[in-house]
Amino acid sequence: VQERARELKEKETLAAIGKMVAGIAHEIRNPLGAISNSAAVLSRDLILEGEDLKLMEIIVQESARLRQTINDFLTFAHPPPYNFTPVDFKQLVEDVLFLAKRDSLCGPGVEIQVDIPDRLPAIEVDRDRMQQVLWNLIRNALEATRGRGKIHLELKLSTKKGRAGVKINVADDGVGIPVEDQEQIFEPFFTRKARGSGLGLAMVQSTIRAHGGDVTVKSNEGKGSVFTVWLPAGQKNLS
Ligand SMILES: Nc1ncnc2c1ncn2[C@@H]1O[C@H](COP(=O)(O)OP(=O)(O)OP(=O)(O)O)[C@@H](O)[C@H]1O
Ligand SMILES: [Mg+2]
Repeated sequence: VQERARELKEKETLAAIGKMVAGIAHEIRNPLGAISNSAAVLSRDLILEGEDLKLMEIIVQESARLRQTINDFLTFAHPPPYNFTPVDFKQLVEDVLFLAKRDSLCGPGVEIQVDIPDRLPAIEVDRDRMQQVLWNLIRNALEATRGRGKIHLELKLSTKKGRAGVKINVADDGVGIPVEDQEQIFEPFFTRKARGSGLGLAMVQSTIRAHGGDVTVKSNEGKGSVFTVWLPAGQKNLS
């Protein structure tokens, strides 16, 4: 009983801290937006050279990055309601790949292989968020290859506990994940990257769970990783 009370207290404290942080993030968002926009306008209108030009670029880039982090955090803290609609998954994957292939992370040393069956069951998803999920997984895979390697994206039909569904594998032959990290990578703010927010996989997990599915990882340090998302087919029970 005491243990249970302590756990409850801890949960309450965490919830209170979460609220406070979200409040601060919210307060930062608007002024930061103003700084970021103003810097962008100045960098366009001013004629700068050498050191000054570099400094201006830093302001523009870093304020944009901070803005992205704050926005990611706020969406994570207060997820907007999900909007489930039937989605052509093949098209969705192609849209994400179109962006991925044009990303600076995807250099000539990276090969992306895609396998999608022609016929997939109808799946209802929140399109924007599912796109974000795929993008987060692919971006992690690209980052893991460090400019040289293979990424394999595979969709297939898959039944889980008697329920029809679709399985999405995102595999890379990159750096891999140490065993001791594997349990923590889905936690918000867990990151090993100098410029990571650690919200990528947390968002992936909460979104997939909201769709009634799950996400798992298998990884060998130095060899690569496979992230597997499973989504149930059919209509969402909108309750
Ligand atoms: N494909 C992968 N290969 C190796 N490590 C990975 C892979 N995907 C995730 N990780 C590990 O999990 C950590 C958490 O990933 P997550 O996407 O949540 O945050 P991030 O990538 O660090 O930051 P952000 O996504 O905000 O840029 C990463 O820092 C990395 O250590
Ligand atoms: Mg990431």
